[in-house]
Amino acid sequence: MVAQNWLDTLKKQLEDITFDAAKEYWPAPNEGDKPFFNYRLEHVRQVERDALKILDFVSADRDIVLASVWLHDRFQPQFKGDDHGRLAAEWAFQNLAKLGFPEEKVAEVCYAVSVHSGRSVRIPDDKPEARVLWDADKVSHIGAAELISYLLNQTAKDVLSSRHGACKFRDHTITLKELAPIMAERRPDKLDPDMFYFPVTRQMARERIAAQKAFLDVLASQV
Ligand SMILES: [Fe+2]
Ligand SMILES: [Fe+2]
Repeated sequence: MVAQNWLDTLKKQLEDITFDAAKEYWPAPNEGDKPFFNYRLEHVRQVERDALKILDFVSADRDIVLASVWLHDRFQPQFKGDDHGRLAAEWAFQNLAKLGFPEEKVAEVCYAVSVHSGRSVRIPDDKPEARVLWDADKVSHIGAAELISYLLNQTAKDVLSSRHGACKFRDHTITLKELAPIMAERRPDKLDPDMFYFPVTRQMARERIAAQKAFLDVLASQV
Protein backbone atom coordinates (compact mmCIF):
# COMPACT_ATOMS: atom_id res chain seq x y z
CA MET A 1 0.00 0.00 0.00
CA VAL A 2 1.34 3.43 -0.97
CA ALA A 3 1.70 5.86 1.94
CA GLN A 4 -0.27 9.08 1.51
CA ASN A 5 1.96 12.06 0.86
CA TRP A 6 1.48 15.49 2.40
CA LEU A 7 -0.56 16.77 -0.53
CA ASP A 8 -3.04 13.88 -0.43
CA THR A 9 -3.38 14.43 3.31
CA LEU A 10 -4.04 18.16 2.95
CA LYS A 11 -6.65 17.49 0.25
CA LYS A 12 -8.41 14.84 2.33
CA GLN A 13 -8.41 17.11 5.37
CA LEU A 14 -9.98 19.96 3.41
CA GLU A 15 -12.66 17.65 2.03
CA ASP A 16 -13.53 16.58 5.58
CA ILE A 17 -13.44 20.13 6.98
CA THR A 18 -15.70 21.53 4.26
CA PHE A 19 -18.06 18.55 4.10
CA ASP A 20 -19.92 19.20 7.37
CA ALA A 21 -20.33 22.90 6.59
CA ALA A 22 -21.56 22.09 3.08
CA LYS A 23 -24.30 19.85 4.47
CA GLU A 24 -25.81 22.89 6.20
CA TYR A 25 -25.99 24.95 3.02
CA TRP A 26 -26.65 22.32 0.37
CA PRO A 27 -28.43 19.44 2.05
CA ALA A 28 -28.99 16.41 -0.14
CA PRO A 29 -32.57 15.81 -1.30
CA ASN A 30 -32.36 12.38 0.35
CA GLU A 31 -31.20 12.53 3.95
CA GLY A 32 -27.90 10.77 4.49
CA ASP A 33 -26.63 11.45 0.97
CA LYS A 34 -23.70 13.76 0.37
CA PRO A 35 -24.33 17.52 0.10
CA PHE A 36 -25.07 18.35 -3.51
CA PHE A 37 -22.53 21.17 -3.63
CA ASN A 38 -19.44 22.17 -1.68
CA TYR A 39 -18.56 25.76 -2.51
CA ARG A 40 -15.33 25.96 -0.52
CA LEU A 41 -13.89 22.75 -1.88
CA GLU A 42 -14.76 23.75 -5.44
CA HIS A 43 -13.18 27.16 -4.84
CA VAL A 44 -9.92 25.58 -3.67
CA ARG A 45 -9.94 23.18 -6.64
CA GLN A 46 -10.34 26.20 -8.93
CA VAL A 47 -7.49 28.01 -7.15
CA GLU A 48 -5.32 24.93 -7.74
CA ARG A 49 -6.19 24.82 -11.46
CA ASP A 50 -5.43 28.53 -11.81
CA ALA A 51 -2.21 28.31 -9.78
CA LEU A 52 -0.96 25.49 -12.01
CA LYS A 53 -1.73 27.60 -15.10
CA ILE A 54 0.21 30.50 -13.63
CA LEU A 55 3.13 28.19 -12.75
CA ASP A 56 3.48 27.36 -16.47
CA PHE A 57 4.66 30.94 -16.92
CA VAL A 58 6.15 31.90 -13.55
CA SER A 59 9.15 30.56 -11.71
CA ALA A 60 8.08 29.54 -8.19
CA ASP A 61 8.36 26.50 -5.93
CA ARG A 62 5.55 24.06 -6.79
CA ASP A 63 5.50 22.39 -3.35
CA ILE A 64 5.08 25.73 -1.58
CA VAL A 65 2.36 26.84 -3.98
CA LEU A 66 0.36 23.59 -3.74
CA ALA A 67 0.61 23.39 0.05
CA SER A 68 -0.50 27.03 0.25
CA VAL A 69 -3.43 26.42 -2.08
CA TRP A 70 -4.77 23.49 -0.05
CA LEU A 71 -4.17 25.22 3.29
CA HIS A 72 -5.16 28.81 2.69
CA ASP A 73 -8.91 28.51 3.39
CA ARG A 74 -9.00 25.59 5.83
CA PHE A 75 -10.23 27.93 8.57
CA GLN A 76 -13.02 29.18 6.32
CA PRO A 77 -15.03 25.98 5.79
CA GLN A 78 -17.70 27.73 3.70
CA PHE A 79 -18.45 31.46 4.06
CA LYS A 80 -17.34 32.57 7.50
CA GLY A 81 -13.67 32.70 8.37
CA ASP A 82 -12.47 35.65 10.45
CA ASP A 83 -8.69 35.89 10.44
CA HIS A 84 -8.48 32.63 8.52
CA GLY A 85 -5.17 33.47 6.82
CA ARG A 86 -3.34 33.95 10.10
CA LEU A 87 -4.90 30.81 11.57
CA ALA A 88 -3.82 28.80 8.53
CA ALA A 89 -0.27 30.12 8.89
CA GLU A 90 -0.18 29.06 12.54
CA TRP A 91 -1.51 25.64 11.64
CA ALA A 92 1.11 25.23 8.92
CA PHE A 93 3.88 26.29 11.26
CA GLN A 94 2.89 23.66 13.79
CA ASN A 95 1.79 20.77 11.58
CA LEU A 96 3.00 20.88 8.00
CA ALA A 97 6.47 19.35 8.48
CA LYS A 98 4.92 16.50 10.49
CA LEU A 99 3.05 15.46 7.32
CA GLY A 100 6.35 14.99 5.50
CA PHE A 101 6.43 18.43 3.86
CA PRO A 102 10.01 19.74 3.44
CA GLU A 103 10.79 21.61 6.66
CA GLU A 104 12.89 24.29 4.97
CA LYS A 105 9.88 25.36 2.88
CA VAL A 106 7.36 25.73 5.72
CA ALA A 107 8.13 29.40 6.40
CA GLU A 108 7.27 30.39 2.81
CA VAL A 109 3.92 28.56 3.05
CA CYS A 110 3.16 30.38 6.30
CA TYR A 111 3.92 33.71 4.66
CA ALA A 112 1.84 32.96 1.55
CA VAL A 113 -1.30 31.93 3.43
CA SER A 114 -0.96 34.75 5.98
CA VAL A 115 -1.17 37.45 3.28
CA HIS A 116 -3.55 35.78 0.80
CA SER A 117 -6.73 37.61 1.77
CA GLY A 118 -5.39 41.17 2.06
CA ARG A 119 -6.53 43.35 -0.82
CA SER A 120 -4.07 46.15 -0.28
CA VAL A 121 -1.06 44.11 0.78
CA ARG A 122 1.97 44.56 -1.47
CA ILE A 123 3.78 41.23 -1.71
CA PRO A 124 7.48 41.71 -2.52
CA ASP A 125 8.88 40.16 -5.69
CA ASP A 126 11.14 37.80 -3.77
CA LYS A 127 7.98 36.02 -2.59
CA PRO A 128 6.78 34.52 -5.90
CA GLU A 129 4.80 31.69 -4.25
CA ALA A 130 2.75 34.15 -2.19
CA ARG A 131 2.12 36.14 -5.36
CA VAL A 132 0.98 33.02 -7.22
CA LEU A 133 -1.46 32.15 -4.41
CA TRP A 134 -2.78 35.71 -4.26
CA ASP A 135 -3.32 35.89 -8.03
CA ALA A 136 -4.88 32.41 -8.26
CA ASP A 137 -7.18 33.02 -5.28
CA LYS A 138 -8.51 36.27 -6.76
CA VAL A 139 -8.70 35.25 -10.44
CA SER A 140 -10.57 32.09 -9.43
CA HIS A 141 -13.49 34.37 -8.50
CA ILE A 142 -13.90 35.66 -12.06
CA GLY A 143 -15.54 34.08 -15.09
CA ALA A 144 -17.92 31.29 -15.99
CA ALA A 145 -17.09 29.07 -13.00
CA GLU A 146 -17.69 31.99 -10.67
CA LEU A 147 -21.18 32.60 -12.06
CA ILE A 148 -22.14 28.97 -11.55
CA SER A 149 -20.82 29.01 -7.98
CA TYR A 150 -22.65 32.26 -7.28
CA LEU A 151 -25.93 30.87 -8.55
CA LEU A 152 -25.57 27.77 -6.38
CA ASN A 153 -24.68 29.92 -3.38
CA GLN A 154 -27.74 32.08 -3.86
CA THR A 155 -30.10 29.18 -4.28
CA ALA A 156 -28.62 27.43 -1.26
CA LYS A 157 -29.15 30.38 1.01
CA ASP A 158 -32.37 31.73 -0.38
CA VAL A 159 -34.38 28.81 -1.66
CA LEU A 160 -33.18 25.52 -0.34
CA SER A 161 -32.00 26.22 3.16
CA SER A 162 -34.52 28.10 5.27
CA ARG A 163 -32.18 27.77 8.25
CA HIS A 164 -29.95 30.56 7.08
CA GLY A 165 -32.23 33.57 7.06
CA ALA A 166 -32.34 36.07 4.19
CA CYS A 167 -34.82 33.79 2.46
CA LYS A 168 -36.05 36.13 -0.21
CA PHE A 169 -38.00 33.42 -2.02
CA ARG A 170 -39.46 31.31 0.70
CA ASP A 171 -43.01 32.29 -0.09
CA HIS A 172 -42.98 31.65 -3.81
CA THR A 173 -41.17 29.86 -6.60
CA ILE A 174 -38.26 31.80 -7.95
CA THR A 175 -38.42 33.00 -11.56
CA LEU A 176 -35.66 33.56 -14.08
CA LYS A 177 -36.69 37.22 -14.17
CA GLU A 178 -35.94 37.44 -10.44
CA LEU A 179 -32.68 35.58 -10.77
CA ALA A 180 -31.31 37.81 -13.52
CA PRO A 181 -30.79 40.92 -11.34
CA ILE A 182 -29.31 38.75 -8.60
CA MET A 183 -26.80 37.36 -11.07
CA ALA A 184 -26.18 40.91 -12.29
CA GLU A 185 -24.72 41.66 -8.84
CA ARG A 186 -21.72 39.76 -10.14
CA ARG A 187 -21.07 42.22 -12.96
CA PRO A 188 -17.28 42.60 -12.88
CA ASP A 189 -17.35 46.32 -13.66
CA LYS A 190 -15.02 47.32 -10.86
CA LEU A 191 -12.46 44.58 -11.43
CA ASP A 192 -9.15 45.83 -12.74
CA PRO A 193 -6.96 43.19 -14.44
CA ASP A 194 -3.92 45.29 -13.54
CA MET A 195 -4.39 44.37 -9.87
CA PHE A 196 -2.71 41.03 -10.57
CA TYR A 197 1.03 40.48 -10.19
CA PHE A 198 1.72 38.40 -13.30
CA PRO A 199 1.00 39.07 -17.00
CA VAL A 200 -0.50 35.58 -17.38
CA THR A 201 -3.01 36.29 -14.60
CA ARG A 202 -3.87 39.68 -16.08
CA GLN A 203 -4.62 37.96 -19.39
CA MET A 204 -6.78 35.31 -17.68
CA ALA A 205 -8.62 38.08 -15.83
CA ARG A 206 -9.29 40.08 -19.01
CA GLU A 207 -10.75 37.05 -20.78
CA ARG A 208 -12.90 36.06 -17.81
CA ILE A 209 -14.18 39.59 -17.19
CA ALA A 210 -15.23 39.85 -20.85
CA ALA A 211 -16.98 36.45 -20.72
CA GLN A 212 -18.75 37.29 -17.46
CA LYS A 213 -20.00 40.63 -18.81
CA ALA A 214 -21.16 39.04 -22.07
CA PHE A 215 -23.08 36.32 -20.25
CA LEU A 216 -24.81 38.80 -17.95
CA ASP A 217 -25.64 41.14 -20.84
CA VAL A 218 -27.32 38.30 -22.73
CA LEU A 219 -29.14 37.14 -19.61
CA ALA A 220 -30.47 40.65 -18.95
CA SER A 221 -31.73 41.10 -22.51
CA GLN A 222 -33.10 37.56 -22.72
CA VAL A 223 -35.36 37.61 -19.70
FE1 LIG B 1 -9.29 33.07 1.96
FE1 LIG C 1 -9.51 31.30 -1.23
